[in-house]
Amino acid sequence: MFLYSFSCLTVLLILLIVFSQESKAQLSPGYYSTTCPNVAGIIKFVLVEAMQSAPQARIGPALLRLHFHDCFVRGCDGSLLLDDSPSIQSEKDAISNAQSARGFKVVDNMKAAVERSCPGVVSCADILAIAAEAAVSMGGGPSWNVQLGRRDRRIANATKANMRIPRGSDSLPVIISKFAVFGLTITDVVALSGAHTFGRGRCLIIRDRLYNFRGTGKPDPTLSLVRLKALRQTCSVNGAFANLDPITPNRFDNQYYTGLQNNKGLFSSDQQLFSRNMASSVALVNRFSNNQTAFFLNFVKSMIKMGNIMPLTGNMGEIRQNCRRVNQ
Ligand code: HEM
Repeated sequence: MFLYSFSCLTVLLILLIVFSQESKAQLSPGYYSTTCPNVAGIIKFVLVEAMQSAPQARIGPALLRLHFHDCFVRGCDGSLLLDDSPSIQSEKDAISNAQSARGFKVVDNMKAAVERSCPGVVSCADILAIAAEAAVSMGGGPSWNVQLGRRDRRIANATKANMRIPRGSDSLPVIISKFAVFGLTITDVVALSGAHTFGRGRCLIIRDRLYNFRGTGKPDPTLSLVRLKALRQTCSVNGAFANLDPITPNRFDNQYYTGLQNNKGLFSSDQQLFSRNMASSVALVNRFSNNQTAFFLNFVKSMIKMGNIMPLTGNMGEIRQNCRRVNQ
């Protein structure tokens, strides 16, 4: 009898522990409502300041991309923000981030401003998620309630960053499989690629598309002649950048998809979304090009899904004091 009650109690205890861990694993928009109610306002203020002081720096697109690159290594855990140290090999040096990922100084300013109001409460991972939403909505795109409550990881993983972050030259099946690792579908791939509605890319990355596509000695045949000519001109200067969306390069809207319908995608990864042998992604490109509301709704859904990738919650990780290094 005693043994029976004891084992029942043990099972109950295990269930309780599992349940409490699972409920802790839930992110929620109101996570900081009592501990740091104005966190989003503080972050937006720093973002506006940064946009005003350097309008050419495209800080909005840079921050949106940081959140993506953070989530796609081992979940949205702020690992991307860690600098090199004796125990950390920074993800900032990974192929897709080196000389490319930007906005770290602005994230530092956001963290410092948040720490002044609510010390030790808000994670760097959540700052990236809030900043991404602010960048999209201020760019003319949709706004949404950001899910919060992530904690920061105490390690980085440059090797996984190299393996998992998609590259502009990846084939669509490779990109789809890189998204599938995190439970993201083809709809998520097409909707999230819509982030390329603003911002720019380095010409260096598309040289082969302009002059020697896959060693053929010719440009990429899927690139429109008009865009090819314009890109060759823009990219004739060393160190130049080209707009991801040639139609409305600074605005978050659905024109990126219209560009794809007209063979104007900047990267081969963009243009492949409209390639004849991928009927499902072509249908999505057509839908988002015809209907901005449908794009915005899907983009928000996919951003929330991406933001939910393997967050650290409960007692895992920490709330970093400085986003560039782990707490002592
Ligand atoms: C689908 C696979 C994707 C690939 C292959 C890809 C690749 C790239 C590349 C190569 C660049 C230019 C980097 C440089 O010039 O150094 C870029 C820029 C950018 N990406 Fe992506 N990306 C993808 C998905 C995403 C997603 C999901 C987001 C966000 C949700 C995103 C947001 C951005 C933004 C905003 C920029 C412009 C950044 C700036 O102006 O500084 N990308 N991407």
